[in-house]
Amino acid sequence: MNGNEKIALVTGASSGFGLLISVSLARQGYRVVATMRDLDRQSSLLQEAE
Ligand SMILES: NC(=O)c1ccc[n+]([C@@H]2O[C@H](COP(=O)([O-])OP(=O)(O)OC[C@H]3O[C@@H](n4cnc5c(N)ncnc54)[C@H](OP(=O)(O)O)[C@@H]3O)[C@@H](O)[C@H]2O)c1
Repeated sequence: MNGNEKIALVTGASSGFGLLISVSLARQGYRVVATMRDLDRQSSLLQEAE
């Protein structure tokens, strides 16, 4: 980690806007901390992140 790293915290990342924003920011170079209430619903985010 360095002083120029861009970090985003996104809640509600299992679907919808939260999922889309998480993926979009990651592709723009952000380190994304994505949270969701039910980790059993993480598969969509993991697939998009590949
Ligand atoms: N998608 C569109 O084109 C569109 C257009 C206009 C308006 N909207 C409105 O914008 C809002 C978001 O749309 P979306 O497509 O992103 O919806 P979504 O996929 O149904 O939900 C997005 C996130 O909301 C979180 N969430 C749902 N119920 C919650 C609760 N009771 N407490 C805390 N978090 C909760 C979930 O977080 P977890 O990951 O933690 O489960 C989920 O990931 C909705 O109200 C929708 O009606 C959507």
